[in-house]
Amino acid sequence: MGNPWFETVAVAKARSKKRLPRSVYGAIVAGAEAGISRDDNLSAFDQLGLRPVAAGQHAHREMATTIMGQPASMPVMISPTGVQAVHPEGEVAVARATAARGVPMGLSSFGSKPLEDVVAANPQTFFQIYWAGDRDSMSARMERARNAGAAGMILTLDWSFSHGRDWGSPSIPEKIDLKTAIEHAPDVLTRPQWLMSWLKTKQLPDLGVPNFPTGGAPVPGFFEAYGTWMSTPPPSWDDIAGLIEEWGGEFMIKGIGRPDEAKRAVQAGATAISVSNHGGNNIDSSPAPIRVLPEVVDAVGSEIQVIMDGGIRRGSDVVKALAFGAEAVMIGRAYLWGLAANGQAGVENVLDILRSGMDATLLGMGKSGIADLSIDDISIPDGFFPPRI
Ligand SMILES: Cc1cc2nc3c(=O)[nH]c(=O)nc-3n(C[C@H](O)[C@H](O)[C@H](O)COP(=O)(O)O)c2cc1C
Repeated sequence: MGNPWFETVAVAKARSKKRLPRSVYGAIVAGAEAGISRDDNLSAFDQLGLRPVAAGQHAHREMATTIMGQPASMPVMISPTGVQAVHPEGEVAVARATAARGVPMGLSSFGSKPLEDVVAANPQTFFQIYWAGDRDSMSARMERARNAGAAGMILTLDWSFSHGRDWGSPSIPEKIDLKTAIEHAPDVLTRPQWLMSWLKTKQLPDLGVPNFPTGGAPVPGFFEAYGTWMSTPPPSWDDIAGLIEEWGGEFMIKGIGRPDEAKRAVQAGATAISVSNHGGNNIDSSPAPIRVLPEVVDAVGSEIQVIMDGGIRRGSDVVKALAFGAEAVMIGRAYLWGLAANGQAGVENVLDILRSGMDATLLGMGKSGIADLSIDDISIPDGFFPPRI
């Protein structure tokens, strides 16, 4: 293999396309229905302009901050993703990479590695749950997170079980046994590097979700856990407030896209929100988070930590989000592509790309650091923002 280092997130994406089985790659790039929101998450950033200065720049640009009570070397953290079989070391590799780069991470309850192993590799881990199963099982998941030493909780609410996708959802087996291995052989055998990385560990991806079961139940397969979640009635704001109170510490609500709901999150006792549309995987036509961010920041920015995720591929995207009032951003697909391309080093590579891109942007804009940014630093085209609600 040539030099595994990559220069941009786009290069990592191209490498992971070559490396991963089509079904796994497809699950990462997918968006709901026509992918309007997924694409808008990216094009919205492209529409925002920067106006560099030619002189008077600062020799050092300050990027350190605090995310949900945790010191972070830059305003970037890993967004939780429940995607299996990307890399044998999975979220443990992500935890090592984030610990090495001094940033926190979110771990999905649909992730592939046990919470305890991930927290051991990076104690700055927030555990992410959905409103899934009965209330006791949610308490049990939080208790497990507490016992493992998780630094906080994330409750993700922006998922509407919208399954139709114009790209055609690939068939993903629940377990890899001989029968499914033969069925999927044409897909997998064309990806020898990926296959070798698993064979070296003497295991094949089992697609189990080890952070989902409670009370000593066996690890369910992805679709069994998904079924439990799907059949759980959605929560009221009072239900959410009860869960937050029970946790009693740092608690993010992920998936806010409206100022009225941001206020409800504050009232419910959350300490942070992420303005998000699940990477374009909630109902299609939801606006790109960056388009609604200033409206949400105006509503609750002084009361709660406002974070955003969706479409971050470059350091300049992070700078734009911070200028719009986010205190930090989360990344999803970018680190999954890094992980697929080169394991732990690939995730570090992605974090380094974002850091150096942020630094270059701050330098070019004549800023002393992230605290120096405001919305006036960004050229915003007419019609960029949807009508305020
Ligand atoms: C393959 C995949 C799986 C995801 N799984 C989860 C999950 O389990 N929990 C969650 O809160 N968000 C999940 N998300 C959403 C991400 O946390 C994040 O909101 C989104 O990826 C951000 O957009 P970006 O990929 O453009 O950075 C997932 C996203 C992708 C692409």
